[in-house]
Amino acid sequence: MFITLEGVDGAGKSSHLAWLEDWFKARGNRVRMTREPGGTPIGEKLRELVLHESMHPETEALIMFAARREHIEQVIRPALAAGEVVISDRFTDASFAYQCGGRGLPEARLAVLESWVHADLQPDVTLLFDLPTEIAARRLANARAPDRFEREQTDFHARVRAAYLRRAECYPQRIKVIDGSRSLEQVRMQLASELAAALESLA
Ligand code: TMP
Repeated sequence: MFITLEGVDGAGKSSHLAWLEDWFKARGNRVRMTREPGGTPIGEKLRELVLHESMHPETEALIMFAARREHIEQVIRPALAAGEVVISDRFTDASFAYQCGGRGLPEARLAVLESWVHADLQPDVTLLFDLPTEIAARRLANARAPDRFEREQTDFHARVRAAYLRRAECYPQRIKVIDGSRSLEQVRMQLASELAAALESLA
């Protein structure tokens, strides 16, 4: 099973990573936690670049997909083939949300990269942590060393959020919207029920 976590910066997905890992382990699954951009030695180097150096939006998109290509080859496919549950903190929905929604690249251009890099691989479930942009911005204000994306203005994050929600409407079977403004306990209850339903439908 391939699960991805998505959402605007500050939507709270990171608070649930360890809990998700434990949830699957408690069911007896072997779990591979990973992230994008990153997840491989080359991917982590590309992450440093893309999070901290200014560049053209198309360069940014190409780097995201270059890192993804490595990640799929080195980590995601081998782990899935070995029967592990793969949980990736972000994947291609983030490119559509940030590089298309946020930066304004045409979706058709990213669709070409998507079909080039992973035509035959999609997440089974995507947990999209959603939060009003102003609340996410307030949470981000406490970030110690904000990266290039976290430093963007509220309207950038509002476009990213809108792009994510549009994708959730297009792929309702795969993308489950999680209300990130609820308490930790409430969010976990929703996560557990979404995952139980997904496991049942995949069984
Ligand atoms: P993180 O803060 O969740 O680790 O993600 C790093 C940043 O990279 C986040 O602001 C979103 C951004 N990003 C993109 O712009 N496009 C992508 O394809 C991915 C995977 C992340």
